[in-house]
Amino acid sequence: MEFKNKVALITGAGKGIGKAIAHALAKEGTNLGLIARTSADLEKLQAELQEQYGIRVSIVSADIANQESVDQAVAALVGELGQVDILINNAGTATFGTLVDMDPKEWERIIQVNLMGTYYVTRAVLPHMIGQNSGNIINVASTAGERGFATGSAYNASKFAVMGMTEALMQEVRKFNIRVTALTPSTVNTELATNAGLKIGDEDRMMQPEDVAELALATLKLPARVFVKTAGIWTTNPQ
Ligand SMILES: NC(=O)c1ccc[n+]([C@@H]2O[C@H](COP(=O)([O-])OP(=O)(O)OC[C@H]3O[C@@H](n4cnc5c(N)ncnc54)[C@H](OP(=O)(O)O)[C@@H]3O)[C@@H](O)[C@H]2O)c1
Repeated sequence: MEFKNKVALITGAGKGIGKAIAHALAKEGTNLGLIARTSADLEKLQAELQEQYGIRVSIVSADIANQESVDQAVAALVGELGQVDILINNAGTATFGTLVDMDPKEWERIIQVNLMGTYYVTRAVLPHMIGQNSGNIINVASTAGERGFATGSAYNASKFAVMGMTEALMQEVRKFNIRVTALTPSTVNTELATNAGLKIGDEDRMMQPEDVAELALATLKLPARVFVKTAGIWTTNPQ
């Protein structure tokens, strides 16, 4: 696809994988609408991207777990940028604990952010894509959406659900030339991985957010007649 003067909305753009995807798309000349909760992260990134790549960047601080905030944020971004060609559903959260030990409120929060948040944002953006009869949606799921593990019941459930929603939506909207893709990275060197205690060994040998961004870009670069349904990315040399 042609990236120049297109518009991408990215959730969880303040750091980690979302920030790396923002840089990768900005480099191609794509204008960006960025969402995360922390305004300071978004303001810093906005200044950085505008200066480095001369693109348009709009930002809105919003919690994707809140449908009203999402609707307002998407309306504001599309209002400012005029269209939306690419949606990167990346914002997510991860904590782990056994099913009995994890506080039910925390279990619900993980589902609310990872599943409901992805649904709210997609629901707000999709009519614009259907209206223009084209679009690209990339959902950043995880290997945790394909394989369960002990202490992962909430995170696994949220990411398996995102995989199911991705596939159902793909079947619904391919007739509108909207491509829907799930990315399923294993552990990536980000704050989320640090906070969840997932980092072991040498950080340089871990998958980096920029690697996931390259994969996202590669799927978008395919001819419009095809799309990647699910793309996994793993480290070559596990420790
Ligand atoms: N890191 C890994 O090992 C790994 C592996 C596979 C998949 N993933 C997935 O990749 C995605 C990105 O993860 P990451 O590792 O880059 O995480 P990260 O470094 O913690 O960054 C997450 C971003 O999402 C935002 N965010 C979190 N909750 C939000 C909410 N409720 N509303 C709006 N924005 C929110 C955060 O900003 P604020 O806190 O300011 O809102 C931040 O900008 C997640 O969906 C994660 O599940 C990560």
